Amino acid sequence: MEQQALSEALIAETPSPNGSAPSTRVPLGELEDGQRVQGVYAVRERELRRKEFDLAAMAEGIVGRFELQHDGHKFQLSFPDGFPRVYADPDKIEQVLTNLVENAVKYSDGGAVTVTGQVTDTEVEVAVRDQGVGIPADQLPLIFTKFYRRAGHGAPSGTGLGLFIARGLVEAHDGRIWADSSPDRGTTLRFRLPRGGLELAGIT
Ligand SMILES: Nc1ncnc2c1ncn2[C@@H]1O[C@H](COP(=O)(O)OP(=O)(O)OP(=O)(O)O)[C@@H](O)[C@H]1O
Ligand SMILES: [Mg+2]
Repeated sequence: MEQQALSEALIAETPSPNGSAPSTRVPLGELEDGQRVQGVYAVRERELRRKEFDLAAMAEGIVGRFELQHDGHKFQLSFPDGFPRVYADPDKIEQVLTNLVENAVKYSDGGAVTVTGQVTDTEVEVAVRDQGVGIPADQLPLIFTKFYRRAGHGAPSGTGLGLFIARGLVEAHDGRIWADSSPDRGTTLRFRLPRGGLELAGIT
């Protein structure tokens, strides 16, 4: 699919779940017709090197590394007891999570960066919340597109590829990634992966 058509298809907004006007939630994993965008990026499902690993421990490691390097931010980590192991490509998921934490640090002048794990019956979720500059609702769908960088907020260097790549990696896992933001109050980037059991590993 052409990138332009993809971008157009992604500019679909749904009301925020709690009805509050300033926050916009944009699910990006599906096209309007329900067709998944998986496969349009470099990494395809069959190229993943999946294995079972502890995503909560990975998050702790990433946060620990950022904590050493960034005095101005307060890092918080919260995963429930018994957070399940996931069956995914650890290198790819580490790349995704690192980019989200890096963005949270880069686009805020300090404050809290909170990494939270949640579990549903079918998925695991990791959310990275910051108290930074935020993203206006009309720009939210664009942040996952190639080379998109917001002008005019004094952002440090970057290529505008981080979230584009992250989205490709998450979707190769049949997961989804999206953003909520309230300008001036901060941004939450989150991704979900299907919960894989042994059956996903072909063991049962
Ligand atoms: N947590 C955030 N808060 C505010 N704006 C954000 C946040 N995350 C991303 N953005 C906006 O989305 C744009 C795209 O993010 P993305 O991670 O793809 O690229 P980047 O950080 O600019 O560069 P890089 O390729 O090095 O990651 C950013 O330039 C920024 O404008
Ligand atoms: Mg980035």
